Amino acid sequence: MTAPLSNGDLSSSDLAARFQDAFGSAPEGIWQAPGRVNLIGEHTDYNDGFVLPFAIDRTARVAVRVRPDSTVRLLSTYGDQGVTTADTATLDGSRAKGWTKYPLGVMWALQERGIAVPGLDLLLDSNVPLGAGLSSSHAIECAVISALNELTGAGLKDEEMVLATQRAENDFVGAPTGIMDQSASLRGAKDQAVFLDCRDQSVRLVPFETEPAGLVLLVIDTKVSHSHADGGYASRRASCELGAEVLGVKALRDVGVEDLDEAGGLLDEVTFRRVRHVVTENDRVLQTVELLGTSGPGAIGPLLDASHRSMRDDFEISCPELDLAVEISRTSGAIGARMTGGGFGGAAIALTPVAAERQVRTAVEQAFSRAGYRKPDIFTVTPAAGAMRLV
Ligand code: GLA
Repeated sequence: MTAPLSNGDLSSSDLAARFQDAFGSAPEGIWQAPGRVNLIGEHTDYNDGFVLPFAIDRTARVAVRVRPDSTVRLLSTYGDQGVTTADTATLDGSRAKGWTKYPLGVMWALQERGIAVPGLDLLLDSNVPLGAGLSSSHAIECAVISALNELTGAGLKDEEMVLATQRAENDFVGAPTGIMDQSASLRGAKDQAVFLDCRDQSVRLVPFETEPAGLVLLVIDTKVSHSHADGGYASRRASCELGAEVLGVKALRDVGVEDLDEAGGLLDEVTFRRVRHVVTENDRVLQTVELLGTSGPGAIGPLLDASHRSMRDDFEISCPELDLAVEISRTSGAIGARMTGGGFGGAAIALTPVAAERQVRTAVEQAFSRAGYRKPDIFTVTPAAGAMRLV
């Protein structure tokens, strides 16, 4: 029997039934992990800085069964791709294809930590849009590492799982990313944003509820897909490292807004703008956390706007579609908007009064149509629970 392809929303019992169909026995369990939206704090994580993401109610779910041998069989509901087979003895990032890089990368990273990883059968279902800047890859990795942490009895703490998934991304997938996304996915909580200090991984949950403030947070997926394994992300990271080296600090976290004038005299023009983005963005995260505590979400709009300008002009990681989404959101009623995630495509967020939601959606869709861009996917998000076992 062939079950219909999923749109990413299979219930646990349907996922278990599909697993049984595909692999001939029931899964041992089902684990889920969410994607994330970053409220503010972009490209600050790998500079030992501050970020304020939250887990969203869109998740990757994996049904898993450990095998008695070293064979790995991976199947997803993404499309008609069939089963991918690998072996735990010969995991190799350069040979792994498509989404299978993420589970295989996690298995490899656990082995690198000295954890014996068994063969397994795995079926993935996910409704985190791919390439939309909502961290679909980390959702998969965090669901898989949660499953393996339990099934192998490794007993890793959240902070250790964060580092293991970062290792998978950096050294198996080949994307030199930081620790923000997996921290949100593993450590997120309902109605809370995750204020993370990326230097020591300490977390403070900060209440972020839009509804009582009469607001919604719209995500505008531009459908411009991006990959952090392409050169843009790595080149920004290299500029930050160069900036820190020239300024004689361990990381740009150690540079304050008050140091920028002096930094301007020491750095070349482009490196200075990259540094200025990171330094001011760290400051905006701290201001956002403070304002959320004192005045609530209605007060953070100007910080979101400033963050977008900084990414557009100083860090240069926006694109025309993201700029249009932000600009039209603002002129049609949003109180603050910015691109979210690594950039070069993906999604923007727009903090919008409930009364203006319809107007913003329509205005953005019309502007995209006029510009000849693909129709954006626009939806609301609220902070949701982090990774967990479902069954
Ligand atoms: C991607 C990376 C994160 C972070 C953001 C930019 O999402 O995975 O580590 O660097 O880009 O803030």
